[in-house]
Amino acid sequence: RTQRALIRESWRRVSGSPVQHGVVLFSRLFELDPDLLPLFQYNCKRFASPQECLAAPEFLDHIRKVMLVIDAAVSHLEDLPCLEEYLCNLGKKHQAVGVKVESFSTVGESLLYMLEKCLGAAFSPDVREAWIKLYGVVVKAMQRGWEV
Ligand code: HEM
Repeated sequence: RTQRALIRESWRRVSGSPVQHGVVLFSRLFELDPDLLPLFQYNCKRFASPQECLAAPEFLDHIRKVMLVIDAAVSHLEDLPCLEEYLCNLGKKHQAVGVKVESFSTVGESLLYMLEKCLGAAFSPDVREAWIKLYGVVVKAMQRGWEV
């Protein structure tokens, strides 16, 4: 099967419960890099712990937003360049809130971790490879937001 088919099939298993899977992704992210926690502030209020953050409605909305961006990428595998401008602007917004470009590799690791948890044995080396490639395209487009 093609990489595109592998992406679509595996995403179908995740996208049915986006928030649940997004929580797995961000729990892992805060484990790998606890310094990312203070970047999430709503009404200037910092979260005291990852648990508190992962339970906040505003943060769960961010999880929904992240999953929607991935969903958009999966739906546009045939035409990823059409997302470039949106992703570049999204990168700019993240630069503005203090995110470092390097943190997106930790996000990538956390994404693979979540996929592995969700897919189990179906997370084959080919599926992993396909996701690394797709995530790379998304991050490359977002990174342009730091360059200008
Ligand atoms: C907005 C932080 C990763 C998609 C935001 C905001 C913060 C933030 C503070 C503004 C508040 C909010 O909307 O909740 C972070 C951090 C990340 C991260 C610290 C990881 C290091 C991502 C990723 C994606 C993403 C990987 C998608 C691929 C979005 C979207 C918005 C947003 C769509 C809304 C932008 C808008 O208002 O137009 N992010 N984010 N974020 N983030 Fe993230």
